Amino acid sequence: MKYLKNDILNIFKDSIDKHEFIKGVFSNPTKESSYKKINLKPVQIKGDFFIQFESFINNKAFHKNETLVDSFKILDEIIDIFKQILIVTSNQEIQILQNKKGFSIKRKHTENKILKLSHNKQKNYILQDNTPVPSLIELGVMSETGKVSKEKFNKFRQINRYLEFIEDTLKELHEKKLIGNSMKIIDFGCGKSYLTFALYHYLKYIKHLKVEIIGLDLKDDVIKHCNTIAKNLDFDNLQFIKGDIKDFNIFHDVDMIFSLHACNNATDYSILKGLELGAKAILAVPCCQSEINQKINKSSMTELKGVLSPFGNHGILQERFSSLATDALRALSLELCGYNTKVMEFIDMEHTPKNILIKSILGCPSEEKLKEKRKEYDRYLQFLGVTPLLDDLLKDYFKK
Ligand SMILES: C[S@@+](CC[C@H](N)C(=O)[O-])C[C@H]1O[C@@H](n2cnc3c(N)ncnc32)[C@H](O)[C@@H]1O
Repeated sequence: MKYLKNDILNIFKDSIDKHEFIKGVFSNPTKESSYKKINLKPVQIKGDFFIQFESFINNKAFHKNETLVDSFKILDEIIDIFKQILIVTSNQEIQILQNKKGFSIKRKHTENKILKLSHNKQKNYILQDNTPVPSLIELGVMSETGKVSKEKFNKFRQINRYLEFIEDTLKELHEKKLIGNSMKIIDFGCGKSYLTFALYHYLKYIKHLKVEIIGLDLKDDVIKHCNTIAKNLDFDNLQFIKGDIKDFNIFHDVDMIFSLHACNNATDYSILKGLELGAKAILAVPCCQSEINQKINKSSMTELKGVLSPFGNHGILQERFSSLATDALRALSLELCGYNTKVMEFIDMEHTPKNILIKSILGCPSEEKLKEKRKEYDRYLQFLGVTPLLDDLLKDYFKK
């Protein structure tokens, strides 16, 4: 059977994603190539994971450490150049030969080898593969022995990434003396609550904090299911409530609120609730930001029909622009409400296009900074030529 280049790329991707990749050897180059051989191995630098490319050109070796995203681009280029590729993973040796008809693959299963990096990549994960977490077992992310299922590996990675953000947020909250040893948290639009359960586990059993968490969602069935799991696991301080974010008024003096992929304006209402409840940290990973786009369509004042017409002329470009414009407005509005706000990538685009995290921590901005931000805000809304719901919701909380 013959394989395509994409199949070979996927073998690399799969083994790297699962942390099973040990080394790769590209040899027997085509005549045109200046490379004689390329060796690959995973390395860890300052806690981050890279692939080291050792390339041999004219009997000299060159070393370069590449991010995973760049590594896949390079692999895409070099696979064509070599007739022989060896991939060694923790449990297989895969010999790949290339001729004009395509690639042939021979796999040999080997005894489990342990991936040795200067530091093992797994140490980076807050929750680890092969270490049981009861709620993730209940939710079907891992088996009873803690093995993460192949289908749920992206979810598992997303959970860990999210916990890393929470870890950083906790550090900042502690440093600013905004929290003590107990925390009240609300997850708005919790859905199936993978992240809510993981957060409870992390804060209670890893950080040993006293926590109270509420997950809120419109859907009756998911709320019932989550409450059943919480009850089975004796998670006394984790409860799930059915309701609309807009109407939530149960907790007071909340430490942190977050909403992950809560649709369209649900994110705006969760930000409003965060302000009403005095949250010290407000985290949002928005999705389906359609409101501003619809308002731009109807506006005659918008620069999308002026200097930004190259965007406005194309539905898809205007839609993407509006989505980013919405998140920029959210970040700016939170700054005007006195929060230090950062916007960052939540998780690789590869896993979800909804990948912007807005992280705000209560601050104490100067009068001058607030004045500047207010000018920026007014100028920005005039440019957009619309009045977003967020403006109505938050303006009473603006410090200027
Ligand atoms: C895409 S899911 C995300 C679930 C979860 N946060 C996650 O990231 O896995 C969005 C959830 O938000 C909920 N939702 C949307 N609007 C809401 C509202 N106004 N009030 C409460 N929940 C809402 C939906 O019912 C849905 O379960």
